[in-house]
Amino acid sequence: MKSSISGLYRLSIDEKIETVCQAAGIEPEELDAMWGETGLPFEQAEAMIENVVGMFQLPLGICTNLQVNGKDRLVPMVIEESSVVAAASNAAKMLRAGGGITATSTEPIMIGQIQLMDLDDLSVASEAILAQKEALLDKLRAQFPAWEERGGGPVDLEVRRLPPLDENDPLPPMLVVHILVDVRDAMGANAVNSMCEFLAPTVAEITGGRVRLRILSNLTDRRLVTVKGRVPVEAFVKRGKPASFGHEVAKGIEEASVFAERDPYRAATHNKGIMNGVDAVLMATGQDYRAVEAGVHAYAAQESHYSALSRWRYKGEYLEGEMTLPLAVGTVGGIIKVHPTVQAGIKLMQVERAHQLAEIAAAVGLAQNLAALRALAAEGIQKGHMRLHSRNIAMEVGATPEEVPALAAQLEQQDIVSHSVAQRLLEELRS
Ligand code: MEV
Repeated sequence: MKSSISGLYRLSIDEKIETVCQAAGIEPEELDAMWGETGLPFEQAEAMIENVVGMFQLPLGICTNLQVNGKDRLVPMVIEESSVVAAASNAAKMLRAGGGITATSTEPIMIGQIQLMDLDDLSVASEAILAQKEALLDKLRAQFPAWEERGGGPVDLEVRRLPPLDENDPLPPMLVVHILVDVRDAMGANAVNSMCEFLAPTVAEITGGRVRLRILSNLTDRRLVTVKGRVPVEAFVKRGKPASFGHEVAKGIEEASVFAERDPYRAATHNKGIMNGVDAVLMATGQDYRAVEAGVHAYAAQESHYSALSRWRYKGEYLEGEMTLPLAVGTVGGIIKVHPTVQAGIKLMQVERAHQLAEIAAAVGLAQNLAALRALAAEGIQKGHMRLHSRNIAMEVGATPEEVPALAAQLEQQDIVSHSVAQRLLEELRS
C-alpha cells in the first residue's frame, strides 16, 4: 500500500479509481461496492431500520498521504462538507514529512453502568459489592463465555457514589456500579448492555437497593487512542514565501491551539474540525459516530472546563501535535459485515482490528485539525473553502459538467462569490 498520491483531484472518476487501486494493490472489482453509485441493497436497508422508504447518499472521497505507525493508509471518508478530504490529505502530507503519525491504543475496555437507588448506607452497599467482586465477575463470565474465548470479557467492577449536585437536586445520594468489559474488536454496546441487565438483579440483592438504569456509558475513557505527529516548519512555506513564513505559521498554530485549550467557545469549533475527519472515517466504515461524538465531547470536558482535544507546540524546527480521543469502534458486529460499501472501505484501509481502525480515524482527525489551524493561522479559512464552494455554486447556477471547471476557476478570482456573479460569468462564458 502506497498512500502518497498527488493530484488525485485532477483525474476523472475512472482514473481516480484506477490510481487508488494501483496504490492499494487491489483490483477495482474487489471494491465494486465503493465506486460510482452502488451501495446498500434495499432488502438490507429494510433489515437495518424501520419504516424504510428510500436511500440517502453522500459522497465518499479518499484521504491520501496518510502514514500511521510507519504504514501507508488510503482512507475512505464520507462527508457532505467541501474541502475536508483535500485538507486532510494535504495535512497528512505535511505530517508525513515529519515521519508520519504514531498511534497507540489502550485495551478496548467499555464501561456498563447499573444505577442503584434507595440505599440506606452507601458505604455498606459499596463494600458489599466490592467484597463480592470476583464472584460477580465470574457470574458474568459464566453467562457470557464467548467473550473469554475471544480473549476479552469482564475485567473489573467499580463502584461510584453520586451525591446530590446542590440544594435543588431532588434525590438523595445514589450508587452506580461500573462493569468494565474488554470487548476486543466489537464496538461492544450490545454486549455491555446485556451484561448490565444480567447482573443488575444480583447487585440489587447484595445491596438491598433498587435498580434503575442498566446501560453502557459512551464516555469510553478506558478505550483511548493517542496520536502524535510533527511537521518540519519548512513544510509550511509556500512558493514565493521566505523561510521565516514556516516559523510564523508554526507559531500561529501554537497560538490557535492555546486559544482552544483555554476557551470553550473556541474549543467547540477546534474540536468540530477534528471530528470532521474522525466522523467522515466513522461514517465510511459504518460506525456509531453519535456514540463517539458523545464520548469525545464528554472527554473534552473532564478537566476543569471544556477544552481542546489536541495540542500543538512550536519547537523551533518542528511543530508538534498530540491528541487523545476515546474511540469506541468495531470491526465485527454492527453493519460491518452487512453493508457492502463499508466492507469495501475496510478492505481498502487494510484493517482487521478495531484498534487499527480507531488509530486511523484519530490520525485523520489530527491531520484535519492541523489543516484547519494552518489555514486559520495563515490565509484564513474562506480561501480554501471558496475553491470547492465555487464548484458548488457553478453547478447550482446550471453549469454543465464541462463548464464547471472553467466557471469555478473564474469564480475563485472574484472578491465576492455569489449566485448572481456566477450567473453573469456563466452567460459570458457561453457567449
Ligand atoms: C469547519 O468545518 C471546521 C473549522 O471551523 C475548524 C476550526 O475552526 O478549527 C475550520
